[in-house]
Amino acid sequence: EKGGYEHFMLKEIHEQPRAIRDTLSGRISEDGQRVVLKELNWTTEQAASIERIHIVACGTSWHAGLVGKAAIEKLTRIPVDVEIASEYRYRDPIVPDNTLIIVISQSGETADTLAALRESKQRGARVLAITNVLGSSANREADYTMITMAGPEIAVASTKAYTTQVVVLYLFACYLAQQRGSIGASQVPEILQALKGLPELAERVLETAPSLRQFAEKYKDKEDAFFIGRGVDYAVALEGSLKLKEISYIHAEAYAAGELKHGTLALITEGIPVIALVTQDDLYEKTVSNIVEVKARDAYVLTLAWQGDGEIGKYADEVITVPRTMPFLAPVLSVIPLQLLAYYASVARGNDVDKPRNLAKSVTVE
Ligand code: F6R
Repeated sequence: EKGGYEHFMLKEIHEQPRAIRDTLSGRISEDGQRVVLKELNWTTEQAASIERIHIVACGTSWHAGLVGKAAIEKLTRIPVDVEIASEYRYRDPIVPDNTLIIVISQSGETADTLAALRESKQRGARVLAITNVLGSSANREADYTMITMAGPEIAVASTKAYTTQVVVLYLFACYLAQQRGSIGASQVPEILQALKGLPELAERVLETAPSLRQFAEKYKDKEDAFFIGRGVDYAVALEGSLKLKEISYIHAEAYAAGELKHGTLALITEGIPVIALVTQDDLYEKTVSNIVEVKARDAYVLTLAWQGDGEIGKYADEVITVPRTMPFLAPVLSVIPLQLLAYYASVARGNDVDKPRNLAKSVTVE
């Protein structure tokens, strides 16, 4: 059942190229020019009527939502708020007419996410559920559903569900842009081409496993780690730090790189591992200057950069690269080394990788 892998998590990490391919399958026209979402089938009017979007989710699914926000805003200029479901449901949210709610949930059964769905429906919003389980409660109660084709995810730590959620959000962003004739509509064919290339690129990222294993084994006894990045790199940093915490039990924090000097820099001391993501070209110099700051405090810096980046090695102790794609699609690739890092750290510390302490796969109680 683990397909020869030692743990479900490792199997599921390796299934990502297949899962991404299946999630794209049937959702791009044969000529590669258009997104086809039969499950939505929105008219131009329906797509045009959306004035704002609230994305609501928990944990890793919330992190996917942060990437979705960036994509939707970039391509459609519709304002998107991303919220933690357990906050949203209790804070009397303002849901004006023509708000679309997107709930994201691997299981489709998370109590707080379902409550937020119900709350927003009651306020008259239309709800799109993105889930991995056909027939889940979220699917049944939402107005529209998009399924991620990750297949069953057994390990508690979410991996392939995250990457496929992100892919669904890219497809949805392209679809909205296309149907509304938004600013990003003309870029859709190029984006779809890049999306179709992701499974093969993800395959190549999996080859970074041995380096991450080495890094994890070297740093397994550290008590703290920091993940930094800007833009969607920050969203991925949050996911990388959650993965490390939940299965290796190493305390990790993710910081927007520009925010470090507003307090957290005080915690950066000799030998502290800092994982820095630098895939956003327009923010490159800014992030590099933050790397220089932590290096000056003798942190041990692992950077995650594009293949062919001849500069980054000057600033870092170790460099892991991912093959180039469009920068806003980077999260699908850059998250994979961070999943592997968490996995190998958990194994090196002798933890129960697939069933970390205190956690359940599906949180159906508050
Ligand atoms: C972390 C993880 C959790 C879930 C969260 C939401 O690896 O798996 O943070 O993402 O509990 O679960 P779903 O997506 O099923 O609503």
